[in-house]
Amino acid sequence: MCGIVGYIGTQQAAPLLVEGLSRLEHRGYDSAGVAVSGSTGLRVAKRAGRVRDLGESLPKRFSGKAGIGHTRWATHGPANDVNAHPHVDGKGTVAVVHNGIIDNAAALRAALTADGVELASDTDTEVLAHLVARSEQATLEDKVAEVLSRIEGTYGVAFLHADFPDRIVVARNGSPLLVGVGEKEMFVASDLAAVVRYTTTVAHLDDGEMATVTSGGFTTYRLDATGPAAIERRAQSVDIDPDAYEAGEHASFMLKEMHEQPVAAESALRGRLDERFGTSHLGGLGLDARDLREIKRVKLLGCGSAYYVGQMGASLIEELARVPADAEAASEFRYRNPIIEPDTLYVAVSQSGETVDTLLAVQEIKRKGGRAIGVVNVVGSAIAREVERGIYLHAGPEVAVASTKALTNMFLAFALLALQLGRVRDLSLAQGKELIAALNELPGQIQQILDTSDAIEPISRRIAEAESLFFVGRVRGFPVAREGAQKLKEISYRHAEAYQTSELKHGPLALISPEVPTVAIVPDDELVERNVAALHEISARGGPLVVVTHPGVDLGDLEERDCARIEVPRSLRSLDPILLTIPLQILAYQAAQSLGLDIDKPRNLAKSVTVE
Ligand code: F6R
Repeated sequence: MCGIVGYIGTQQAAPLLVEGLSRLEHRGYDSAGVAVSGSTGLRVAKRAGRVRDLGESLPKRFSGKAGIGHTRWATHGPANDVNAHPHVDGKGTVAVVHNGIIDNAAALRAALTADGVELASDTDTEVLAHLVARSEQATLEDKVAEVLSRIEGTYGVAFLHADFPDRIVVARNGSPLLVGVGEKEMFVASDLAAVVRYTTTVAHLDDGEMATVTSGGFTTYRLDATGPAAIERRAQSVDIDPDAYEAGEHASFMLKEMHEQPVAAESALRGRLDERFGTSHLGGLGLDARDLREIKRVKLLGCGSAYYVGQMGASLIEELARVPADAEAASEFRYRNPIIEPDTLYVAVSQSGETVDTLLAVQEIKRKGGRAIGVVNVVGSAIAREVERGIYLHAGPEVAVASTKALTNMFLAFALLALQLGRVRDLSLAQGKELIAALNELPGQIQQILDTSDAIEPISRRIAEAESLFFVGRVRGFPVAREGAQKLKEISYRHAEAYQTSELKHGPLALISPEVPTVAIVPDDELVERNVAALHEISARGGPLVVVTHPGVDLGDLEERDCARIEVPRSLRSLDPILLTIPLQILAYQAAQSLGLDIDKPRNLAKSVTVE
């Protein structure tokens, strides 16, 4: 989604802005631009297309030691040069970059037009530049605060003003923004990735806050009805290795992050397993045995892959803890006026912690007096702050749009939660210990699957040739199929539909043909025979098969037909879903690679979806 970067200090801003924007590319964007404040006022360069093209097209004398930059993911108006940010007022006095959506933009645009202002773009953002330029307040802070008080919607914004060349003013409401502290220079960004090469000392703004950033430091304000009121906010040092934001020797971030899964899984489990009592320690949860026993139901809420892994988690929790559990798409939840129960544990699942649909679901739960925890990767993100309690994933930064290692760690977090919930109920000490032993094996088993990547490649190439596919599974295998289809769609643009294997014969079997392969999830569980029988129905209709299964599962004469087999190591049945997911990541990755696609920048998608 859109990205913001800003710089003010002793160096030329433009190269630093372009470099910062290139580090936000993974978030998804369609155009980019920068504005700098120099001796002759503001200068702006922006265009549809890649950041690299923007950098190469900058005029030689594009100088200024303060500047703001933006990558845009179109919401209002098509992706073209004019709609790209920064936006300026008619005289070019004010430049603004904006993440989020202004809900009352149409009314504000109409009022400006009626006042004789000519709007250049189709965007909601442009009004901000005109309104700040027209404000009669004396300081830039007061001008910005006055304009923001008229805005309905969400924003992370950064303003430059030709009459106040010594500062950048930024503000946040629902869209992340941070200030980075350097030596006689300061940075602004919507994501740490943009500035991590220059500083890891940062202050995150909260919703309803504004900051003035000069080369010597920053001042923070709370925006209240009477205007900006100064508040104290200290920058803190973040313990992060800047190399975590580099693809390094890997061809893409997705490949790198897939291969980081064994190490990431170890981090998720580290210090959290109590072998002696066969349970888990989750310090951030703050629930004692009595609280845990009072939980009568668990509801997992997430979007996209976080929803699908939530479905895997729901099966896991029901199976191990015998607490009713289900997962729901967070984006739909609040629109059905949900009944919030006091003894339900609501779990917001989000890698970025910024997905607005999930954040709004949490706010709805809280509004109705419910109890929500988070399963979140990004420390200090909006959802993490909103829930106050939860389980951090410790996956390290996930840069690729397609989620892999964070998803794996979400599953592990659910396993740790299930263990706690189970051990205060009917899960015996022996069963708890058995689960811990199986969890400890998982990182090595994930590695084993990754090591089979070369053998999977011919299958992936074949998959890439199909225009349309099915992914099928049953019970705990069904969310695995959904996640597999999602990954393939996201990065290889093949049409892939996930179905319960048992439902095929109730309709979709009509679509099976030699041109439509089926990827079937067939773990060696209580349903294996029924699953194999369904595969025969597919094969009998000429449908090619890729079966993801366990060693020793007898597929009968299927293997003499058009049927490829991929095996994963055995684990406890309840943990099988995560191991079955790994080959599907590999399939999707290799299919996209064989199609020559840009895997880290899938079309139309963004890493964190901060608009509804
Ligand atoms: C899929 C993917 C998306 C995200 C979804 C939620 O690979 O990455 O479907 O899972 O947008 O994102 P988070 O987890 O950041 O809330």
